[in-house]
Amino acid sequence: MEDAFYVTPADKETLDSLFTPFSSIGTHRMLITAGYGVGHSQWNTMTASWGSFGVFWNHPTVTCVIRPVRYTYEFVEREDLITFSFFPEERKEVFEICGTTSGRHTDKASAAKITPLAMKPGAIGFAEASVVLVCKKLYYQDLQPEHFLDKSLIRNYEKNDFHRMYICEIQGIYQPREKK
Ligand SMILES: Cc1cc2nc3c(=O)[nH]c(=O)nc-3n(C[C@H](O)[C@H](O)[C@H](O)COP(=O)(O)O)c2cc1C
Repeated sequence: MEDAFYVTPADKETLDSLFTPFSSIGTHRMLITAGYGVGHSQWNTMTASWGSFGVFWNHPTVTCVIRPVRYTYEFVEREDLITFSFFPEERKEVFEICGTTSGRHTDKASAAKITPLAMKPGAIGFAEASVVLVCKKLYYQDLQPEHFLDKSLIRNYEKNDFHRMYICEIQGIYQPREKK
């Protein structure tokens, strides 16, 4: 679809109107995507339901956590920009498919019926998304077992696969144009 998206700079009022901090990620889920083009092997995406919206260093941010075993991790590490894509409720199978298969073995675009779009160079989102946040990675840190004050949470890491946390500045908000 040509010219299907428009961009607005990320301002607090728009972000507040689009997201609910607890359910947008935790209940509805999001896709984390990184890549340098829309060709099959040029990008990868995965479902995430842990993370947060907030403010760091006076920037509006998304914080997410990615286990290094994910194929998406390799793409996120390589790129400066990553995107967070949110979908309408009727497309929730997208999260099931992208959260239970790996881009190492599965063509997620065809399996989940999603169309990658370059929102800008190095920022891949999806035509079917209701909102895509284009973000710049600002900071990362690996979660460390000794820093868990509640040690019972370490049960989430039986394979010692502690997440890498990324704090990302929300730079742009992309929404589909209203259908005429
Ligand atoms: C609901 C749901 C939420 C998930 N949240 C995360 C997450 O926050 N961080 C993470 O590393 N993996 C998470 N996953 C797992 C990845 O989405 C999953 O392992 C995916 O297959 C990785 O794909 P990839 O190998 O192509 O990157 C989640 C999976 C589901 C189903």
